[in-house]
Amino acid sequence: MSRRIAAKITGVSGYVPPRVMSNAELEKLVDTSDAWIRERTGIRERHVADPGVATSDLATEAAKILLKSKGVPAEDVDLIVVASVTPDMMFPATACLVQDKLGATNAWGFDLSAACSGFVYALTVGAQFVGAGTQKKALIIGSDVMTSILNYKDRATCVLFGDGAGAVLLEPTDRDEEGILDFVHVVEGSGGKFLYMPGGGSLHPASAETVQMNMHYIHQEGAQVFKYAVRRMAELACEMLERNGYTSKDLALVVPHQANLRIIRAMQERLGIEDSKVMINIERYGNTTGGTIPLGLRDAVEQGKLKKGDLVLLVAVGAGYTAGGVLLRWAY
Ligand code: ACO
Repeated sequence: MSRRIAAKITGVSGYVPPRVMSNAELEKLVDTSDAWIRERTGIRERHVADPGVATSDLATEAAKILLKSKGVPAEDVDLIVVASVTPDMMFPATACLVQDKLGATNAWGFDLSAACSGFVYALTVGAQFVGAGTQKKALIIGSDVMTSILNYKDRATCVLFGDGAGAVLLEPTDRDEEGILDFVHVVEGSGGKFLYMPGGGSLHPASAETVQMNMHYIHQEGAQVFKYAVRRMAELACEMLERNGYTSKDLALVVPHQANLRIIRAMQERLGIEDSKVMINIERYGNTTGGTIPLGLRDAVEQGKLKKGDLVLLVAVGAGYTAGGVLLRWAY
């Protein structure tokens, strides 16, 4: 069964807050070193939002840049999907806040929670509406202020993440040879216990006790997540190519989720693909969760790594566990 969706990405943008936090700055907060962080994760620095700057602010900035670059008035947007694990608040949805800040008065929208796989999930979901012809212009945004849920006393997690957002515009296509060719999504819920934020939800509503027990921070068993990510990223990448009759030689670019350089390199080795075809920017941003893949696409476009007709693979693994891949032909 073909999973082609008659929708294409027609623009991409990103936004990171201006403040940069270096590994040296983290050395002052926890028992870590620049050498350890670079060697074990590939990260040199990350961007950090100022207090009072929320996920909707980063998402709105990314969306504004995108709409401006395309010359599309905000009123022409008819769907906004925001992938995030750090919504401004439990409700209303961050998509509603972005709709208001953008002045996208004719758009409906919603949030999607799939952690580091959130952007690829949101892309597939938004594309279904565009491909069906019911929506003409969909903004798909991945945005997270991960620093709002980081414990700067836990060296095993606080060094990994940064804040940022990226967005793409999805529009219909009637050409078989461009747009979304295939997608795959996976949930392995038994892995939920290895990466989660226990406090603030209906199970453990926020209280003085949940705060005292650090339940409003990320909890992670890094080695477990690492093993799963290495296996799944490689499996999904290979599956997407094989079932579409391609090899890695046909790919112009892989844009993987940026969680750890070693996870990306392991996938690259399985695919047998050269460095120049793998988009890597983790050294500058760290893991921005929903933001990594659109920020990767943004940087790839800016660096001239993508041209019309290119075969591109997006692949991600995240908390849940969730995982996903999208194979597409670049359309501009
Ligand atoms: N600085 C210095 N030492 C550290 C740090 C740090 N920041 N963090 C951990 N260590 C120490 C550990 O305490 C341990 O010390 P010990 O041997 O004395 O006990 C030692 O380094 C090795 O720890 P490991 O956990 O085995 O280190 P590893 O090489 O596995 O790296 C890491 C840890 C980076 C967290 C890795 O497991 C990882 O990247 N996991 C994936 C996590 C991830 O990316 N999650 C995000 C979202 S999900 C996703 O996107 C896939």
